[in-house]
Amino acid sequence: MSTLLEKLPPLYVRVTAVSRETDLINAYCLEALDGADLPAFTAGAHIGIVMPGKITRYYSLCGSAHQRKHYLIAVQREASGRGGSLQVHRRVNVGTVLQIVRPRNFFALPDAGRVLLLAGGIGITPMMSMAATLEQAGRPYHLVYTTRGAAAMPFRTHLEGLAARGRATLIDTTLGRADLRHIVEREPEGTHVYFCGSERFMAGVQEACRDRSPEYVHWESFSPASPAGGNVFTVEARRSNKSFTVSGDQSLLMALRENRVPIESVCENGTCGTCKVPYLEGDVEHHDGILSVAERQSCMMACVSRAKTRLVLDV
Ligand code: FES
Repeated sequence: MSTLLEKLPPLYVRVTAVSRETDLINAYCLEALDGADLPAFTAGAHIGIVMPGKITRYYSLCGSAHQRKHYLIAVQREASGRGGSLQVHRRVNVGTVLQIVRPRNFFALPDAGRVLLLAGGIGITPMMSMAATLEQAGRPYHLVYTTRGAAAMPFRTHLEGLAARGRATLIDTTLGRADLRHIVEREPEGTHVYFCGSERFMAGVQEACRDRSPEYVHWESFSPASPAGGNVFTVEARRSNKSFTVSGDQSLLMALRENRVPIESVCENGTCGTCKVPYLEGDVEHHDGILSVAERQSCMMACVSRAKTRLVLDV
C-alpha cells in the first residue's frame, strides 16, 4: 500500500487562494504547479503537507472528489498543538509552494446504504467531501454538525445551504450539548455512522454507537495518539520467522525495525495509516485514530498500538 506511494516522486502544489473561514480556521486552495489535474482521490481522503524540518501534517480534503484542478483543505490554528497548524497559518499564503503527500483514504464511504455524517468542530473537513459525493450520487445521507455557533463554523454558506435543503442539521453547542445518543438512535439499523471531531466528541459518539454493529461505525481522528508505554510483550512475526520482545520504552514499530522486519512510517502518532500491520493473535491495545472497529479485529498501527502480553503478526 503505502510503500508504493512513498516511492512516487514528491508532489508540489501552489497555494492559489486562502480564505479566513473563522477566527481559527483558514481554508487553502492548492493547485498543481503546471495547472494539470491533481491525483484522483475519494471522499474521506487526506493529504500530508511536508513542513520545514520534514515534519508532515495531515489534512482531510474538503472539496468534491470530482474536482481535480485543485485540492481544498482547512487548517485550524491550535495554540497548544505541536506547531504544525501555527506554521501553516503563519507561513502559507497565496503563491506559497508546498510539498505534499498524495491523497490516501482510510475513511472511505461504503458502496451502498444510508450514511449519517456526524462532525464536531474542525471534524467537518472530511464530511464536506463525503456529503458532496453522496449528494452527487443521489444517495441517502444526513449531516449533523455541532459547533460553537455560526462564528465558529467554516464553510458556513455551504453548510447553511445544506441545512436549508434538509440535508444537514446544524447544532450550536453554546446553547447546550448535542444529544449524540438521540441523533444516532433515530437512524435506522443498517445506517453507516461516520464521525470526526474532538476527543470528547469522538468519545460521545462512540458511546452512542455502543449497540451498533461495528461494521457500520467509522471514524477518523487527527489528534496525535499517546502510545501506551510500560508493558513488555512478545512478538512473533510469523512470515518473517522472527520472535522478539518489545520493551516498555519501545514502540512495536521500533522493535520491528530493530529486528529487520521492513515497515514504512510517516506520522508515527497513529494518524496517517502508513504503518498498518495485520495480526493473527494477541491481546492488542489500539491507540490509533483511524482504524474502524471492524479493521481493529485484524490490523493495528505499529507506531502507537501495543499488546498486553503477546502478539502474532502476519508479516
Ligand atoms: S506511521 Fe502514521 S499511523 Fe503509524
